[in-house]
Amino acid sequence: MVRVAVLLIGLAVLCRAEFGPPTVTVSLDEAPELRWKPLAQVFDVEFLRKAAADIIDSTVPKWVHQAVKPVVAALEDYIPKPYAGEIRGIASLLGGSVSDIIILNFAYEISAFCTSIVAQDVNGHLYHGRNLDYPHPVLRNLTIDVVFLKNGKVAYRGTSFAAYVGLWTGQSPNKFTVSGDQRGTEHWWNWWKNVVSAVLLRRSPVSWLVRESLAQAEDFQDAVMRLSKIPIITGVYYIVGGVQPGEGVVITRDRTRPADIWPLEPIIGGWYRVETNFDHWLPPPARDHRREAANKALNATGPDHINMETLYQVLSVHPVCNRITVYTTTMSAATPEKYRTLVRPMGCRPN
Ligand SMILES: *[C@@H]1O[C@H](CO)[C@@H](O)[C@H](O)[C@H]1NC(C)=O
Ligand SMILES: *[C@@H]1O[C@H](CO)[C@@H](O)[C@H](O)[C@H]1NC(C)=O
Repeated sequence: MVRVAVLLIGLAVLCRAEFGPPTVTVSLDEAPELRWKPLAQVFDVEFLRKAAADIIDSTVPKWVHQAVKPVVAALEDYIPKPYAGEIRGIASLLGGSVSDIIILNFAYEISAFCTSIVAQDVNGHLYHGRNLDYPHPVLRNLTIDVVFLKNGKVAYRGTSFAAYVGLWTGQSPNKFTVSGDQRGTEHWWNWWKNVVSAVLLRRSPVSWLVRESLAQAEDFQDAVMRLSKIPIITGVYYIVGGVQPGEGVVITRDRTRPADIWPLEPIIGGWYRVETNFDHWLPPPARDHRREAANKALNATGPDHINMETLYQVLSVHPVCNRITVYTTTMSAATPEKYRTLVRPMGCRPN
């Protein structure tokens, strides 16, 4: 009896504990159609297929899904390389239709709530952390760390969801780290019109621009320029951390230009920046206390005690971490090997 009870308590603790997601290694030297094949080593393909259908059903109303299918099929021709090939490859791996995988890739773009923090310690070291919140629990089982190789070496890495080709979180080693937070909210039907017109106008989904910057930007400065200027489908916040003192910024984006650039200013006390899903110069909605809670926890930590571990603790405070938090990543471009993601199996609840 006692042993069973102990065993059960042990299991309960195990089930709730945070865990590192699987790592998928994607070689950019492979053709786009083939490079996501390693997904099948980490996931049961049948599980992936069902999870994808589940996300589409719960995110996209059925009639919208049916209505946009022919449009999506036509869009395939307009999706830029390498994403079109990668999406085709994933569709064939899962045995689904290409339009379903396109819809899946766009579905994630609409309800991702998040908190991102960039901070500098007294010695000038930069730390960058993020929580990704999404109201669908299956994403916890789809979270992956992805290492992108080029010529056999790590080109960049990021955290994503299986079957998704963009990145909301990533690191270019010894150069910069980046995360994206959704700006405001939009309804599916309006959002979908934007997708169609934007893809036709060759604007990038916000998560594709993150990946492109990781692949191409020379350094922090170059990344900030690209993330500020290149046209994207919808508004977003890009949070970027570098390797030199002062290299930290929150970029508030409109579709075609930056609306605001908010850098660290350690000299005058601005040693951290917190961004959730609202413009930093305006108060957040009264019921949303994430920004205030993060500010308070960071103030209590101070620039003399901030590091990867304490940043993780700040990102674990309720409601910064909340019911729908899927994962937390902490990173620092100057020490790329310390990149760490932990999945929150149950989210967080008030203490
Ligand atoms: C995720 O995986 C765990 C462990 O395999 C399982 O218990 C849980 O039901 C899964 N959750 C979802 C939403 O699929
Ligand atoms: C955090 O500290 C700053 C600077 O001292 C202060 O302006 C701000 O009100 C503090 N925020 C909270 C939530 O304590």
